[in-house]
Amino acid sequence: MGSNALAEILAAVTPEQFASAVTRAADLLRAGEVVALPTETVYGLAANALDALAVSRIYEAKGRPANNPIIVHVADLAMAQSCVAAWPPAAARLAQALWPGPLTLVLPRSPAIPDIVAAGGPTVAVRWPRHPLMEAVIRKCGFPLAAPSANPSGRTSPTTARHVLQGLGQRIPLVIDGGPTPVGIESTVVDLSGVTPILLRPGMIHSAELEASLGMPIKRLATAATEGTLRSPGLLSKHYAPKARLILCGWRDEGDLDRLVKELVPAGVRCRILAHTAIPSGELASLTRLLSLDPHQFAQRIFAELHDCDTDNIGIILVEEIPSGSAWDGIRDRLQRAAHG
Ligand code: TXA
Ligand code: MG
Repeated sequence: MGSNALAEILAAVTPEQFASAVTRAADLLRAGEVVALPTETVYGLAANALDALAVSRIYEAKGRPANNPIIVHVADLAMAQSCVAAWPPAAARLAQALWPGPLTLVLPRSPAIPDIVAAGGPTVAVRWPRHPLMEAVIRKCGFPLAAPSANPSGRTSPTTARHVLQGLGQRIPLVIDGGPTPVGIESTVVDLSGVTPILLRPGMIHSAELEASLGMPIKRLATAATEGTLRSPGLLSKHYAPKARLILCGWRDEGDLDRLVKELVPAGVRCRILAHTAIPSGELASLTRLLSLDPHQFAQRIFAELHDCDTDNIGIILVEEIPSGSAWDGIRDRLQRAAHG
């Protein structure tokens, strides 16, 4: 920890590799260490959620502000219920319909969960991830795992083991490589600790799906609360930011895009264009990467494209404006945050 040795990285392709990666991760976690593990959304930096000292190592490795609470990951309903002080019908419905999956529920905290996990607040965020490696590690440990995204605080979340190594490789002992994460952006976060369910962070499970399972409307938070324990610090504007300046913009045609590039990109600054419908040809094509028109495929790739911009020393990223449907809410949220970073 804190040394300059690069993290060990374990593949989990064959059943033998899978089993020994799970054993190695569980051994370190039992010893109070942190381990980077894949989930279906992004890679997480995990520690024993019941061990305050172990969780403090997560804050240290990420440079995470102490007022930003951490999601607790479980691998069955009984474990989820052991983390909370109340399990209202709304939680039962959402868990039944959408767990395991990319959904986090904020509920009153059980005394079993140390203050540091909740940043001293009265609630805890709980999620049952749908990923064979993460689930196997939690089951092997027998305790829940606190895990924020495995990136330095404020930067883009990792969707590959290489992204984790680039950001935290010198600050953590082990990364388990489960390949690229299938969902690609962080989980939807819903606060069920009050009377009305509140959507704290949109994700690929969108509000229509939540409302269908809940049988009631869900409230959307307009802006972040700012004092004390943050309502959901993921709502702060400087979050999920690549190093480059990111601009969301539309263009009608090649000429239009050409004018935009001339206007926005200073001489000597490298530019990348992330397009999905108005696809440039000619000279601008060499600056362009293509994303899918399908929101699930778009989400799966977007953070990898932003990480690539970091490694390629891109100064300005022009991202083509995305469709307005609710299936794009989570993606729009991340792009807007990245644009304001
Ligand atoms: O998909 C995900 O959620 C990934 C994977 C690793 O599970 N995790 C993740 O964690 O994105 P993190 O820490 O990067 O984002 C968690 C978000 C933050 O915005 C945090 O403030 C919020 O959840 N959160 C955690 N505990 C909370 C609580 N008790 N009340 C309100 N918000 C909470
Ligand atoms: Mg994060």
